Amino acid sequence: MKLLITGGAGFIGSNFVHYILKKYPDYQVVNLDLLTYAGNLENLKEIENNPNYKFVKGDIADAKLMNELIADCDVIVHFAAESHVDRSILASEEFIRTNVIGTHTLLEAARNNGNKRFHHVSTDEVFGSLGATDPAFNEATPYDPRSPYSASKASSDHLVRAYFHTYGLPITISNCSNNYGPYHFPEKLFPLFITNLIEDKKVPLYGDGMNVRDWLYVEDHCSAIDAIIHKGRIGETYCVGGNAEKTNKEITYKILELMGKDESSIEFVKDRPGHDKRYAIDFSKIKNELGWEPSVNFEEGLQKTIEWYKNNEAWWKDIKSGEYANYYEKQYNNR
Ligand code: NAD
Ligand code: TYD
Repeated sequence: MKLLITGGAGFIGSNFVHYILKKYPDYQVVNLDLLTYAGNLENLKEIENNPNYKFVKGDIADAKLMNELIADCDVIVHFAAESHVDRSILASEEFIRTNVIGTHTLLEAARNNGNKRFHHVSTDEVFGSLGATDPAFNEATPYDPRSPYSASKASSDHLVRAYFHTYGLPITISNCSNNYGPYHFPEKLFPLFITNLIEDKKVPLYGDGMNVRDWLYVEDHCSAIDAIIHKGRIGETYCVGGNAEKTNKEITYKILELMGKDESSIEFVKDRPGHDKRYAIDFSKIKNELGWEPSVNFEEGLQKTIEWYKNNEAWWKDIKSGEYANYYEKQYNNR
């Protein structure tokens, strides 16, 4: 099988490239990535010389390149996106260009090359925000995105489904909850807080810290996508979750405890505008149909993640001192 993986130099994409090459040593992987601020070839150092792996630098919105690459693959696994809510609040244009126009370009190329199998990696954020006692999101939950990021992902999901109904493109979609683990860019909650604490800095907790997210260890997301591309029913959507609903405050206290720090390291800062209150996922469909469920529990995943950041200081120090420093300053001045 020859996979075209888009966004394979980002957080989840690079974990997925490692996962596939390890589990299926005879598969061929082409990783197409634009290497934006979030893409990092350091994530792929260990496999860069694997004869079954090839990296191509390019833009998913480049129709000519997408046609060439898709002509020569069996399955497209589409991760490439602008992925950070806070950045989409500062400036949303790139989110529309990559997440909406880029996905459309890929869909057209898949259609023009014999209707190639297409898996679209999406997020639970398309469903909007839950109240404390609302039932968890499932595949039938109506879309209600509330940030420029989630609105752009919702648009891409709609396009992917439209290509199934209109052109018979063999698609699947996964809507997954928040991931954490190795290679997570240190603008997101887990890696930002862990690396700040290693550097003896404070951790910026938004609002009252009572917003709830469901968390999944990244390798479990990879195994869910693996199950879907091999066994998923064409045209279907699968919700993927970690069975680990936590408030941001709970997570912060857990990280502080595991890293030998106390609450004096917390800085409560101005809340994110339109901050979704709660996400939760009912993953019974993928569990019942494909036999998938998370294998790493939250405590174990968090410990592994903290260890990884402790052992890979050069990786994140490089990032924190680059372009990211400008972004962080902008964010900080916004508070
Ligand atoms: P990320 O920001 O770490 O990585 C995105 C990758 O896409 C980067 O390597 C970047 O260079 C690449 N990219 C961006 N624009 C591109 C373009 N125009 N052409 C080609 N490549 C481009 O994101 P992530 O956290 O790894 O998320 C991957 C996917 O999973 C996204 O589609 C996201 O919506 C989805 N998702 C993420 C989470 C999460 O918790 N991180 C949860 C559910 C779903
Ligand atoms: P994030 O990692 O940005 O993921 P998402 O917004 O896509 O769920 O944020 C996770 C939660 O952590 C979210 O409720 C916002 C909160 N948060 C903070 O409190 N402080 C921070 O510095 C960041 C980045 C996030």
